[in-house]
Amino acid sequence: MPVPPKDPFGWLDAAAEQRRRDGLTRTLRPRPADAGPLDLAGNDYLGLTRHPAVTAAAADAAHRWGAGATGSRLVTGSTALHAELEAALAEFCGFEAALVLSSGYAANLAAVTALTGPGGLVVSDAANHASLIDGCRLSRADTAVVAHADPDAVRKALDAHQGRAVAVTDSVFSVDGDAAPLPALAAACRAHGAALLVDDAHGLGVLGDGGRGGPYAAGLAGAYDTVVTVTLSKSLGSQGGAVLGPRRVIEHLLNTARTFIFDTGLAPAATGAALAALEVLRAEPGRPARVRDVAAELHRRFTAAGLTAREPDAAVVSVRAPYPEAAVRWAADCRAEGVAVGCFRPPSVPDGVSRLRLTARADLGPDEVRRAADTVLRTAPPGA
Ligand SMILES: Cc1ncc(COP(=O)(O)O)c(C=O)c1O
Repeated sequence: MPVPPKDPFGWLDAAAEQRRRDGLTRTLRPRPADAGPLDLAGNDYLGLTRHPAVTAAAADAAHRWGAGATGSRLVTGSTALHAELEAALAEFCGFEAALVLSSGYAANLAAVTALTGPGGLVVSDAANHASLIDGCRLSRADTAVVAHADPDAVRKALDAHQGRAVAVTDSVFSVDGDAAPLPALAAACRAHGAALLVDDAHGLGVLGDGGRGGPYAAGLAGAYDTVVTVTLSKSLGSQGGAVLGPRRVIEHLLNTARTFIFDTGLAPAATGAALAALEVLRAEPGRPARVRDVAAELHRRFTAAGLTAREPDAAVVSVRAPYPEAAVRWAADCRAEGVAVGCFRPPSVPDGVSRLRLTARADLGPDEVRRAADTVLRTAPPGA
């Protein structure tokens, strides 16, 4: 009999040491409630998370329905608010029906796993979000990971397969902020009779007429073969996720998706807040254009000063850093000067290139945009 090791977690010390050596240690930094740094790191693209109508709706919902949903949506966790939000989301984005889940992550796991399975094929963009990747893994379908934003690669992968298939893609990719070629992807899927699943986490509220999202902008709203997932935690300033699509797909998810069935429903406060945020978005359709303008302005200032930054298709502005430690120090220096920016480095980046990641916000004034850009430029490391 082998002698069991005394410390089952002893190996973690070596793993932590390796992370330290590689400059990849992550730490939590509690966000102050008030007077924090200028935030270009979060995903509150439209500046709605503290909008008075949104926070009041969250408080009202909590008072009326309770702090928690109390159970799975299929048991006690469904309220009239959930139904109202589903109808509003479906109508706004142009789809037949919607299903609200407790997060965008859960929505992606639900959509990928419910739309495929053993014997099926999932064709997945190499730069897809972790939640889509995990959906592929959980689905037990064959997964073909194809080159980033490459409809021909999708077509080839589909051609090599007989039977049920779905292609999955982010609409706007989290790391570089580039948009997927949705019309060409939809054409590739249609030619094969495959479904297209689009994660519009970074498109809702930013792209399309009045912020109706990437699929809407691509002419795919209401398409019989397209399913869309969204998060309520970015443009809508709340928390939660949803799947939108043909009614029979939504009905299928309600009956089979494990992250819907075996998960507590979205908290009433988050549900009410998302609904109120959607109402603000409807009433103020200029917000999406403003967030895109802010992103374009940041990009213009960075590239004019010689930094390497991809032209943003939505709200995410990604700036290349020379190596992981430099990216971490750069972000820390920005923070020390009162500007919070994100920092992406391996293993969160598919190509191993570390970056600063800034998110534009519709509620930033010209002085704040200038201050953010100046701070990033002043603190840039050699080689950036
Ligand atoms: C592209 C994308 N999809 C899905 C998610 C997950 O959404 P949520 O945070 O609501 O779980 C995120 C990030 O949060 C994301 O960036």
